Amino acid sequence: TAAHAISASRFAFTPIPAQTDGAVHVPEGYEWKMLMRWGDPLFSAADGYDVTDGGPVQNSDMVFGENTDGMETFSFKGHELIAINHEYPNRKINLPAAQEGVPASADDVLKFQNIQGVTVMEITEGVDGWSVVKDSPFNRRIHHNTPMKIVGPAAGHDLLKTKADPTGTASLGTMNNCGSGKTPWGTYLTCEENFNGYFGSTDENASYDPKVAEGFARYGIKAESWNFYELFDPRFDTSKNPNEPHRAGWIVEIDPTKPDSTPVKHTGLGRFKHENAEVTLAADGRVVVYMGDDERGEYLYKFVSNDTYRPGAETEGLLNDGTLYVAKFNDDATGEWLPLTPETTGMDAAEILIFTRMAASAAGGTTMDRPEWVASSPVAVEAYCCLTNNKNRGVKPNAGGDDTAVNGPNPREANKYGQIVRWRPSNDDHASESFDWDLYVMAGNPAVHSDERAGSANVNEGNLFNSPDGMAIDSTGLVWIQTDGNDDNEEDFAGHGNNQMLVGDPVTGEIARFMTGPNGCEVTGLAWSTDLRTMFVGIQHPGSNWPDGGTPRSAVIAIKRSDNGLVG
Ligand code: FEO
Ligand code: CA
Ligand code: CA
Ligand code: CA
Repeated sequence: TAAHAISASRFAFTPIPAQTDGAVHVPEGYEWKMLMRWGDPLFSAADGYDVTDGGPVQNSDMVFGENTDGMETFSFKGHELIAINHEYPNRKINLPAAQEGVPASADDVLKFQNIQGVTVMEITEGVDGWSVVKDSPFNRRIHHNTPMKIVGPAAGHDLLKTKADPTGTASLGTMNNCGSGKTPWGTYLTCEENFNGYFGSTDENASYDPKVAEGFARYGIKAESWNFYELFDPRFDTSKNPNEPHRAGWIVEIDPTKPDSTPVKHTGLGRFKHENAEVTLAADGRVVVYMGDDERGEYLYKFVSNDTYRPGAETEGLLNDGTLYVAKFNDDATGEWLPLTPETTGMDAAEILIFTRMAASAAGGTTMDRPEWVASSPVAVEAYCCLTNNKNRGVKPNAGGDDTAVNGPNPREANKYGQIVRWRPSNDDHASESFDWDLYVMAGNPAVHSDERAGSANVNEGNLFNSPDGMAIDSTGLVWIQTDGNDDNEEDFAGHGNNQMLVGDPVTGEIARFMTGPNGCEVTGLAWSTDLRTMFVGIQHPGSNWPDGGTPRSAVIAIKRSDNGLVG
């Protein structure tokens, strides 16, 4: 609109054009440097780890992992730390000698298990830029076999008990770590997304308790896994361990300042395909966690704690003792948070948390076009969620899911491009049970389409993108948007170019392209250095031979202004 055109831009850069090459591009006056790639050693013992043949299983738990995703920075006693996720393996790249990347041994499976999970690492900035402090006592790899605690209202439930852990309170590993979160008390939250794909059955005739079978269906746990763990690691074989999948799909808290601490799975935050965990505070100091469940036709959630956060005081229970809500969006631009309780769901309190999807269906939440990251503003009481796309509306991904007719915040029948919904809680309080909402942007292609596929007024030929996914709001309130979409640059996607990072003005709606990734990649994960002079950005699964001209390697880059000015 004209209003957009005449408002002075808040952006401190000249937007860059779409790109289709195998490089990273940033605006004039900015520069980027490599920080860390898959296979780079965190410890001297792993020096020489060679990724060209996929790397050996030995020391694969002492190097930076694959498929970097959500990340957060922490400042602790003068040390700068990053905690960062490694979502899944790139099987053919990580096991190039195996047929189609299918593991042929327990060692192959162990390597996959080692290169996923979470890295905690200390970083430091010198004259040549940022680097990782090798052998720092803070450096740590958390992977699929790291001991964890299970706490909260569902801990110890029969559905969480296994032969190896008859208490239902201790599990091994965290998996498919997608987005992230950071608590006000300085801990890292890692979010278990597509955990279902890690479980399979070596017995195709295995039968399950009806409740377990119903859960497998709704969460997409099938006879064959994606990574074939079940062939070599019986823990992932549901015919032998039917409750093991119930011990994944949670949000896990890690203290990056205590390398010996045991990560904690918080059942109070529900079990689903967790994208990220955006933590903010209610007006009275109660802890509010916004969370998306990234699958077609699933829901947006929030948790509100019973107790308040007070700096320096005990934080135990703040992520477990409270109320879990599902979002209901009305067509009149209002909405409600529906509490998930025995009264609203007909389920008992623990089963609401273990089978949160079924609870949200029973309560009447609004089905969404794949909720990815939620970000809340530090300068306004509002939050945003990327609804990445919905390419198959009407086709249920899982048995038991709800019908997914178009609705207010998901208005397009065929949604190739995605949108970002924004809500403002009533009374300027994130604990409110009602809100107003609007669509901040509907992505599209006005160069190709003139109907609803053109997108909203703040989409133009200079900022084309699709499939918004990662998102973070900087200290000034600007909304940074990362994409994970179609990058073939043809037909419906002509002019979109490679996946990218853009920035949006929350007031004017103006959106500008800031960075483009190498072709084939997803841009995901964004965190700022403590001095706000560096942005750390993740490049996941580059498709070309980025960054070294050889084996493609997921990596984190550091972006700075050439004059060392603030970038967030
Ligand atoms: Fe791992 Fe929904 O992104
Ligand atoms: Ca994502
Ligand atoms: Ca995505
Ligand atoms: Ca991804």
